Amino acid sequence: MSKRIDVKDLNVYYGDFLAVEGVTMAIEPRQVTALIGPSGCGKSTFLRTLNRMHEVIPGARVTGKALIDGTDLYGTGVDPVAVRRHIGMVFQRPNPFPTMSIADNVLAGVKLNNKRISKGDAEEIVEHSLRGANLWNEVKDRLGRPGSSLSGGQQQRLCIARAIAVQPQVLLMDEPCSALDPISTLAIEDLINELKEQFTIVIVTHNMQQAARVSDRTAFFNIAGTGKPGKLIEIDDTATIFSTPSVPATEDYISGRFG
Ligand SMILES: Nc1ncnc2c1ncn2[C@@H]1O[C@H](COP(=O)(O)OP(=O)(O)OP(=O)(O)O)[C@@H](O)[C@H]1O
Ligand SMILES: [Mg+2]
Repeated sequence: MSKRIDVKDLNVYYGDFLAVEGVTMAIEPRQVTALIGPSGCGKSTFLRTLNRMHEVIPGARVTGKALIDGTDLYGTGVDPVAVRRHIGMVFQRPNPFPTMSIADNVLAGVKLNNKRISKGDAEEIVEHSLRGANLWNEVKDRLGRPGSSLSGGQQQRLCIARAIAVQPQVLLMDEPCSALDPISTLAIEDLINELKEQFTIVIVTHNMQQAARVSDRTAFFNIAGTGKPGKLIEIDDTATIFSTPSVPATEDYISGRFG
């Protein structure tokens, strides 16, 4: 199920503004790739191009290629809705449907894709996804309660359960722990470690320790100044980026000299 993504010469625009320029990188299957870099360098923008969420913004567009196992996500005839089904996303703020039950939250994406599912199948998907998101034991006795009745960390794990319920091939996560306490953060990090056996994971994080802990590969993005496009400076094994990066700007960023 896990897939490789090859990005080639990707430019990302908001209207006339070139927000991210010339990104070429390979994202390996069954690995966690971390995207790091200062605020405004285009990490979220770039991440959203990987499941065609960028283009929902009016005027937003992309040039270049993003191939998933060789198929261009931006090829003619490719349905962006189908792309988002295979490439799931988890956002910075947990966004469960507040009045919908915990179980229905997990099933929300599945029902969109495949309107009729049997009760037995639905129960199985709910349990399997909640177990996968490490939330089952905490909620199994209150699956009918609203999503908003959970703590922030639990809500984020619920959103992860919802994302994995549709069995995506790739999971994109934009600062998934930034609103969480250290214990919930560690729970999500453990989960990421388990999920990478099945999924290709790309995670944006401002937390250098987190990038070092959870990722196999790290990509450093930077921006030359306001109004300038963000660029990929380098991507390498996480251990290399954090010990002997090739570019001085990477070293400056990870050692906290700027950003
Ligand atoms: N909807 C939008 N319309 C126009 N410009 C946008 C939009 N969203 C982001 N931008 C601009 O694109 C650039 C990259 O923004 P982006 O949110 O991708 O940065 P980021 O690296 O994720 O930053 P942060 O670390 O603060 O989340 C910024 O200059 C930002 O102002
Ligand atoms: Mg961002």
